[in-house]
Amino acid sequence: MKNAIAKIKKISIVGRLAGSLNYLVPKSKLKIPTENAIKMAQNIAAQEIPNEQMLSRHKKMDKSKFAVAGYEKIAQKYTQLYYDDKSDLGFFNQFLTYLPKGSRVLDVGCGPGTFTQHFVSAGFAVEGIDLSKKMITIVRKKLPKARFQLMDMRQLKFPENSFDGIFAAYSLIHIPSEDIVDTLKGFKRVLKPDGIVGLITQKGASDKIVDEPMQPGEKMFFNFFTKERLQKFLDGAGLKLEYQEEAVLADAEGSGSDRVIYTIATK
Ligand SMILES: C[S@@+](CC[C@H](N)C(=O)[O-])C[C@H]1O[C@@H](n2cnc3c(N)ncnc32)[C@H](O)[C@@H]1O
Repeated sequence: MKNAIAKIKKISIVGRLAGSLNYLVPKSKLKIPTENAIKMAQNIAAQEIPNEQMLSRHKKMDKSKFAVAGYEKIAQKYTQLYYDDKSDLGFFNQFLTYLPKGSRVLDVGCGPGTFTQHFVSAGFAVEGIDLSKKMITIVRKKLPKARFQLMDMRQLKFPENSFDGIFAAYSLIHIPSEDIVDTLKGFKRVLKPDGIVGLITQKGASDKIVDEPMQPGEKMFFNFFTKERLQKFLDGAGLKLEYQEEAVLADAEGSGSDRVIYTIATK
């Protein structure tokens, strides 16, 4: 994640240098000094500005996009590790019992299609969205018959009453607290009356930037929950809690959370 922040910094330094050079150099000769300026700016950004300092300077940074920048780097590794993971299928199958066969379902933050594949095999009309370009490329190759779009779950671009079900597994954990109620309101808006939401989140501290467990040296933004905190967000969005269970997380290694929270809510 260090690199993602360095990149932001690099762009702003480069922008400033290139801007001032515009006054001094005839347009036709701009290319060479601009490249030098880029190299100079890159060196300054790479060597002198540590990650933590960057974070405090970018307090208004979009934390979810910061997390997604991390997924762009680990998408392949994540796919190898989790695509075949079956540890949450008990809850997944429970969620399916609420949906009539053939229902239209949205897999939010679908990643490589860990759960989308099971919606497909169970005969649901499933679509997936994710904000990571790499994840979308991977999932389109894995599940060519399903439909996927690059989309931010905080701004769903679907009409009202589009889906019978929304499933968000390990993806709401990358949305900062200040955006959670509006995100859930967005889920509610695109759900049909009596539509259902299934959430897999993790238990733990809220709104933290921590070491990325899958990529040493990188950072990741996580927002973990308690059952009560999640319930408050659901209330705030006008969704009704139907079922909630806390369980031991099968693969807790390095994530900073050893418990998972399964939640089902209705419109
Ligand atoms: C831990 S992965 C979960 C993937 C899949 N649901 C699974 O359970 O294996 C989190 C996913 O959420 C996506 N994500 C994070 N923030 C997002 C946002 N604002 N909108 C859409 N997707 C997002 C990431 O790109 C990543 O693919």
